Amino acid sequence: MSGSGELTAADLLAQAPPLLVLGCGYSGAYVAALRRESGARVVGTARSSTRLNELRDGGLEACSFDESDCGALSALRFDTAVDVVVSLPPARSEPHHGALRVALDSLSDISVRHAVYLSSTSVYGHSMGATVDETTAISPADPRGERRVAAEALIREWGAARRVSVDILRLPGICGPHRTPRARLQSGRYVLPEGGRVWSNRIYVSDIATATEHLFRRGGTGEDWIATDGRPFIVRDHIKTCCELLGLPMPPDVPLASLDPYRRAFWQGNRRLDPSRLRDSGWEPAVVGCRAMMTDAWAAENATGDVDNRGRHS
Ligand SMILES: NC(=O)c1ccc[n+]([C@@H]2O[C@H](COP(=O)([O-])OP(=O)(O)OC[C@H]3O[C@@H](n4cnc5c(N)ncnc54)[C@H](OP(=O)(O)O)[C@@H]3O)[C@@H](O)[C@H]2O)c1
Repeated sequence: MSGSGELTAADLLAQAPPLLVLGCGYSGAYVAALRRESGARVVGTARSSTRLNELRDGGLEACSFDESDCGALSALRFDTAVDVVVSLPPARSEPHHGALRVALDSLSDISVRHAVYLSSTSVYGHSMGATVDETTAISPADPRGERRVAAEALIREWGAARRVSVDILRLPGICGPHRTPRARLQSGRYVLPEGGRVWSNRIYVSDIATATEHLFRRGGTGEDWIATDGRPFIVRDHIKTCCELLGLPMPPDVPLASLDPYRRAFWQGNRRLDPSRLRDSGWEPAVVGCRAMMTDAWAAENATGDVDNRGRHS
């Protein structure tokens, strides 16, 4: 601290705790990169050697972790308490929480300051167009939502046993480079179940990173949070805007029943998320609205010449 009481750059660097990202995939990498900017030590786990190398190329420390091989994770040591982001989705097959349970158990010799779990708004089930916030009852309507509720319970139990505060950050559809409908619209693979007349919500991937960092900076209060851009939209309108921007015709309508159960669940969510709790706590999304998200994501894709879509829905 300088004599005037103001924080210097050196103070900020000294204050940033190390970060461990369990499941350093799409969102995890943005969270990791943001903490890395402060000079902190950041470790991200991945399964494949390709992904481990990508993390290293991005300036992170890469740690191999798979639920069948936790040796490297168990051997990790930090010289101070570490913040932990958990971005491991429940597996679709049994055991659903194998990786999460193994990962958390592997941290037994590490001092954890706070944890943030990147969860999903699928825990709210079928909302039939209603406005949903953190006070809305949890009511999963399908196995995917049930697995997510169970995962939240598991990490809360772990936090209680370890005396670590765990904030649950529930996310809607994640948007960003390679997570937009562009590639599927251009290739004719995009379809609109029931005309796309359902409510949906988005968050831009860099805003997941700022929301997560915001929760760590608040000191970890162990609450549930919804993070979105605050602009629920009718999917058909969103797709119409995308088609206009891309100069494409609207995709075909199909019956909901023609989708596989995983995709059907996404369309049945049909909710308008209210992120007021997070906003009132001092966080603001930087990328708001479909048009801004598409423009930003496509500019980033165009810059690399790689426009493939690796997202699940959108
Ligand atoms: N995509 C969406 O629109 C959306 C919406 C709401 C909530 N969410 C949830 O938000 C979180 C972040 O989403 P995301 O799309 O950024 O995730 P993601 O890119 O799929 O990253 C998940 C990470 O977990 C790792 N992982 C998965 N299973 C594992 C296992 N059995 N053992 C070890 N590592 C494993 C993956 O490793 P690999 O790289 O080796 O696969 C990857 O690093 C996830 O929990 C996701 O389910 C996503």
